[in-house]
Amino acid sequence: MPTVVVAQPVAASRIRHAPVGLAAAALLTAGAGVIHLAVVPEHVDEYTLFGVFFLIVGLAQLGVALGVALAASQRRLAALAVLTAALVGLWAVSRTLGLPVGPEPWQPEPIGVSDTICEVLQITSLAVLGGLIRRGRRVRMPRPARTTLGVAAVALLVAMATFAGAGAGLSGMTGAFSSTPSSADPGGTPVTALVTPPSTVLGPAPVKTFTLTARSAVLGGQLAYTYNGTVPGPELRVTQGDRVRVTLLNELPVATTLHWHGVRVPNAEDGVAGLTQDAVPPGQSFSYEFVANDAGTFWYHSHQDTGNQIPAGLFGPLVVEPLGGRVGEDVEHTVLLHNGPPGAHAVAVNGTTGVLALPARPGQTVRLRVIDAVAPNMDGTAEAPVLLGVPYRVAALDGHNLTGPGLLGPQRLALGMGQRVELVFTMPASGAVRLIDSRIPGAPSVLQGFFAQPERADETVTLGDGTPPANVDVASLPVFDPLRYGAPSPDPNTRTPTAVTAPVVLGERPGFHDGAIQLMHTVNGAASPEVPPITVRQGQLVRLHLVNDTGEFHPMHLHGHIMSVLEVDGHPPLGSPVRLDTVLVWPRQTVDVAFLADNPGIWMLHCHVLVHASMGMSMTVNYAGITTPFTMGSRSGNVPE
Ligand code: C2O
Ligand code: CU
Repeated sequence: MPTVVVAQPVAASRIRHAPVGLAAAALLTAGAGVIHLAVVPEHVDEYTLFGVFFLIVGLAQLGVALGVALAASQRRLAALAVLTAALVGLWAVSRTLGLPVGPEPWQPEPIGVSDTICEVLQITSLAVLGGLIRRGRRVRMPRPARTTLGVAAVALLVAMATFAGAGAGLSGMTGAFSSTPSSADPGGTPVTALVTPPSTVLGPAPVKTFTLTARSAVLGGQLAYTYNGTVPGPELRVTQGDRVRVTLLNELPVATTLHWHGVRVPNAEDGVAGLTQDAVPPGQSFSYEFVANDAGTFWYHSHQDTGNQIPAGLFGPLVVEPLGGRVGEDVEHTVLLHNGPPGAHAVAVNGTTGVLALPARPGQTVRLRVIDAVAPNMDGTAEAPVLLGVPYRVAALDGHNLTGPGLLGPQRLALGMGQRVELVFTMPASGAVRLIDSRIPGAPSVLQGFFAQPERADETVTLGDGTPPANVDVASLPVFDPLRYGAPSPDPNTRTPTAVTAPVVLGERPGFHDGAIQLMHTVNGAASPEVPPITVRQGQLVRLHLVNDTGEFHPMHLHGHIMSVLEVDGHPPLGSPVRLDTVLVWPRQTVDVAFLADNPGIWMLHCHVLVHASMGMSMTVNYAGITTPFTMGSRSGNVPE
C-alpha cells in the first residue's frame, strides 16, 4: 500500500505568530467592527445603502477577528490586512474627494469622533498585521505571564477606544427631530400660521423697512460673518408701535436665520431654525415682520448654529424708542459687549478692542444701553460692567423699565449673555465718565476651572472729555441687587394665579452628545433635543422653578414672553418688579419666575451661554394645539444651537 501523504497547509501549521500581536490585530479589528455597527442607525437614517454597508463591514470585521484569534494563518492575516487597508482608503477618499454615491455625491464628509477613533484602530491594526506577517516564522514565544499581561493591556486600551467611538457613533446628531411629533397633536395649528396680522387689523402702524445682508468680511485681518459688513451689525432703531419689516439676504456660505432677542414677535417671525422656519440657504432671502409693541433695548442674532455664528459676528442692536419719543434725555448710546479677535480674552465694545470714546457734554443727560452679546470665552462667567465717575440710575433691565429707580454709586452690574441694562445719568460739570467691564467667575467644575480666565477689569468705554475717574478695585465693589432696588408697583404678569409650575433643573455630566464626548449640560437630567417640553395653554400663568445644580452661571432665555422674578433663593423682590427675557441663574441658585402664556407657539427656553445650549441646555415651551412642520437635525440641516 503506497503511503498517502496528505498535503499539509505548510504555512499555517509551521508559522507561529506573536500571541500579543495576534490578540492586538483581532481586538483592534473587532473594536473597529463594533464602531461600524454603532453608526449603522445614523446612516440608515441618512442614506440606507451606507447603513447596509456599515452593517456588512461591521459583521465582517467581527467574523475575521474571530477567525484570526482562533486560527491564524498567513493567508488570513493577509486577507485581514487587505480588508483593513481598503476600509482606511475608502475613509480617506470620503473625507477628501467625497464618494460618487450618497446623499451628497462628491462632497467630502466631515470628520467626526467615531470615525477618527475607528481609523486609529484600523491603522494601528494594519501596522500590527504588517509586523506579524513579516516576522512570522522567527517569533520567539514570550512567557505565558507576559502574554497574559500584554493581551490584557491591549484589550483594555482597545475597549476604551471602542467605547468612546461607539458611544459617539450611537449619539450622533438626530436625523430629523420634531419638537411636536405629529402623533401628539393631529390637526393642530402650524407655527407658520402664527404670523403678524395685516395692518388693517392692527390699524395703520408706520412701517420701518430694513435689509440685513449676511455676508463674510475680513475685519482687522480676521474672517468674520457680518450683517451689512460690520460687527456688530447696524443698530436698528424704531418707535414703539412701528411695524418692522426686515429682509435677510443670505450671502454667507452657510444657512442662517434672524432672531429678535427679547421682542415678543408672533411665533412664525421668531427665526429659530428647525422650529419656526428652515434655515435660509446661501443665496436666498427671508422676510420677517412684527410690530414693536414693547419699548426698550433688544438685539438680533442668528438662531442657526448659534454657537458658531454669533461669535463669528452675526449679531446687532435693536432699539425700540417709547411711543411719544424719549423724555428728558439728551444723548443715547448703545454699547454691545462681545468677543474680540480669537484668542484675545478681553471684551470688545461695538467692534473696538481698545477704549471706545463716546461723546457727551457736561450737564447732558445720557441713556447708556448696555447689551451683553457674547462673552469673550463663553465659559459661563457673568460680565459685570461698572460705571465710574457719576451717580446713575438703572432705568431698565432687558428693556423693561424698573419703577422708582434710585441713584447708585459704583456697583458691579452682573449681566449674563443676552441680558441688557439701561443706565441713565447726568454728565458731571467736568471730567469724563467711564464704563469698565469686569467678570464674576462662578465656581466652575474642575474641567472648566482649568480653562477659566481670572477675574479682571477691562478698559472699555469713556463718555465725555476731560480726566477720567481713577481705577477702583473692582472685586471690592458691591454687586447690584435688582431685588432691593426701586419701588414696588403692580406687575401684570402676576395678577392671575399660577396654573402650571414647571421645574427646570440645570445640571451637567460627561456623556455622549451630538457624536462627541462632552460635558453635557442638561435640563431635568436630559440634553436637547431630548428634554421633554413644558406644555402650556393660552392664558395660563406659568411658573418656572429654575434650579442651578452647577457651579456656573446660566442666563436662561425664554423666547416670545416676559418673565417676572418671583423669588431668588426664596426671597421675593422688595422693590420694583423685575421683568426679564433672560434670567441669570447664579451658581447653585434657585430662581422662580412667572410668565403669562399669551403668545401661542413653540418657544425656545435655553441657556444663552452658547456652548451650554449646544451641549444640551435647551428645551421648548409648547402651547397645546400648536405644531411645527420643521425638524432639526442632519436631514434638514437645521441646528438651532
Ligand atoms: Cu438670544 Cu434663543 O436667543
Ligand atoms: Cu449655561
